[in-house]
Amino acid sequence: MDNNLHDYRKSYEKSSLDRGNLNQNPLQQFRSWFNDVEKSGSLDETNAMTVSTIGADDFPKNRIVLLKYYDENGFVFYTNYESEKGKALIDNPKTCLSFFWPNMERQVIIKGLAEKLPDTVSDNYFASRPKGSQLGALVSNQSEIIENREVLENELKSLEDKYQNKEVPRPKSWGGFLVRPQSMEFWQGRPNRLHDRFRFTLIDDLDWKIERLAP
Ligand SMILES: Cc1cc2nc3c(=O)[nH]c(=O)nc-3n(C[C@H](O)[C@H](O)[C@H](O)COP(=O)(O)O)c2cc1C
Repeated sequence: MDNNLHDYRKSYEKSSLDRGNLNQNPLQQFRSWFNDVEKSGSLDETNAMTVSTIGADDFPKNRIVLLKYYDENGFVFYTNYESEKGKALIDNPKTCLSFFWPNMERQVIIKGLAEKLPDTVSDNYFASRPKGSQLGALVSNQSEIIENREVLENELKSLEDKYQNKEVPRPKSWGGFLVRPQSMEFWQGRPNRLHDRFRFTLIDDLDWKIERLAP
């Protein structure tokens, strides 16, 4: 078996980023890139992002979640507050989100502070989910060790019966996090590894400092 990937090489040639086409507001820059990726139609789950946390063991851990909302305040995803990531973020709200959009040869990296969304916001989003997903949230004590798959399927079955004609309540352990960005970095692949990178850093909670970074 040959595990040598040295010849995996690609020249990035699709686009460029400079002061002229960079929006002065990073959220608007994000929106513009997100829309480009959506419009291109060639990528599944444009809203899939990596969330990294520092856990009680002092190790960073990354995992994918789905971005469900964003605006000037920040980026929202939903999860179990008692999962490994939930506990880590409640303990240490410093986090990093990142997107890789290979079809546009782009990466966005966001450092920020996570906070729980107000209950009413999580309630509204939970109520909008399909019943199967709602029950799934009730069934799964995310990140806990379980004996086997049957444990989940049996629990789902009994909850399906219980809530057959009833609204499923949002479990208190499930809800959203808002990540308020402190820095946002935009990476556009370019030929010869001379990629374009711009970093926005929030100054005094007010203005964004913009710097070009070496690739
Ligand atoms: C494409 C994709 C989307 C996912 N979306 C979510 C999500 O929105 N929320 C979530 O809690 N987990 C989501 N997951 C599962 C997480 O990656 C992870 O397995 C889970 O949240 C448990 O993580 P933890 O034990 O580190 O807390 C997704 C996984 C993939 C691959």
